[in-house]
Amino acid sequence: MMKLWGGRFQKNTDKMVEDFTASIFFDCRLAEEDITGSIAHARMLAKTGIITQEDSQEMIQGLQEIRQEIQEGRFEYRTELEDIHMHIEKRLTEKIGPIGGKLHTARSRNDQVALDMHLYVKKEIKSTVELIARLQGALITLAEENLEVIIPGYTHLQRAQPVLFSHHLMAYFCMLERDVQRFRDNYKRADLMPLGAGALAGTSFPIDREYVAELLDFENLYENSMDAVSDRDYLLEYLSNASLLMMHLSRFCEDLILWSSSEFQFIEMDDAFCTGSSIMPQKKNPDVAELVRGKTGRVYGSLFALLTTMKSLPLTYNKDMQEDKEGLFDVVDTLKGCLEVMSPLVESIQVKGEASRKAVEEDFSAATDLADYLVKKGMPFREAHGVIGGLVAFCLEKQKLLKQISLEELKIFSILFDEESLMWLIPERGVGARNITGGTSPEQVKKFLRKAKICQENNIKIIK
Ligand code: ARG
Repeated sequence: MMKLWGGRFQKNTDKMVEDFTASIFFDCRLAEEDITGSIAHARMLAKTGIITQEDSQEMIQGLQEIRQEIQEGRFEYRTELEDIHMHIEKRLTEKIGPIGGKLHTARSRNDQVALDMHLYVKKEIKSTVELIARLQGALITLAEENLEVIIPGYTHLQRAQPVLFSHHLMAYFCMLERDVQRFRDNYKRADLMPLGAGALAGTSFPIDREYVAELLDFENLYENSMDAVSDRDYLLEYLSNASLLMMHLSRFCEDLILWSSSEFQFIEMDDAFCTGSSIMPQKKNPDVAELVRGKTGRVYGSLFALLTTMKSLPLTYNKDMQEDKEGLFDVVDTLKGCLEVMSPLVESIQVKGEASRKAVEEDFSAATDLADYLVKKGMPFREAHGVIGGLVAFCLEKQKLLKQISLEELKIFSILFDEESLMWLIPERGVGARNITGGTSPEQVKKFLRKAKICQENNIKIIK
């Protein structure tokens, strides 16, 4: 078959080269964007008088029919036609004859593919944000249902201080909220319209870029044609935002996996979200959470692949840049899969508040509160730290829990201890006392939940 660019060639392309350079197997995903972009371009060509209204109408009609063919699976993909742009242009000329050849006036595949990718990423940012917001909603619900459940809070994976389970969940809400902010910010850079850059230098035709931007709902134009066809920052931003998001999901999954183990027993994930073992009949494995954690790796991989592809490319377009697509598509699919499954998984979680409270009672996590009590009685903090350290050592030696200590025993360590001190051994007391903005007291967590809900409802509304 004669290539659309075949004029200067004396030989046919090697079959192996066709296979090697083709991108149609993955960029067929851009069909909708490509047609939308071409229709806008055809309208602009007529508006500026570069082509006639009749020709433009015919092209638009043809493009709409092609869209239909693609949607109905009646469109034929062929490696020789390289990419989605060539496929659609070729099909258009098959349908409407040589007039179809006018569509590419004042345009190059370089600005065309850039336009398609911008349209695609803008759409995907919106759906990513919506899916994050749904997960935020599931976190809010689970937090509200278990508002006052106490669990041990950890540092170094050693029990540190008791916290509300809902407070722990809201920490993830905050991370997801930053993810939403980052994707929204990403949207601004995806919202630049590249068409008109041509191959690299712009065009001598009197095009109207503003009109194209308006038709396609772009906020701004690229202001430098060379930048327009070279820029892949907005894709790298998406990949890097996706990487941070996956890191958050992965940490959350890690917590869920730990909490559902026999060692912790703070939660139970629903049977519908777990799987069994082929050999050990007793097993109930948290496969979904593990797989979300595991998929983080491929997302980071796509970010690094594209960063590396881009790092030494001279301006402007280079074929290397075709490599921007598969990783991005894979990340979009991965995020969608992970976010979609996480929301119902979170909603299905049963929290075992009694078990987690028992865990808190059986550790030394009231130690800071006891030290703080001595400080409130006038002892310098560093000294109080030493006193309570001695008390913990005493308990360990006597094999006693803090809650089994009597006032007499406490007084051996400091005369400042009194009846009131024993109150600080009740976990609710320590949790309730952390009543500062951002603290774990029920009052603060309730206050935060009110904010979180407003935030989440806002995120659900379409961005822009
Ligand atoms: N398939 C190409 C890509 O994805 C489209 C742009 C081709 N441009 C070119 N000058 N060969 O990057």
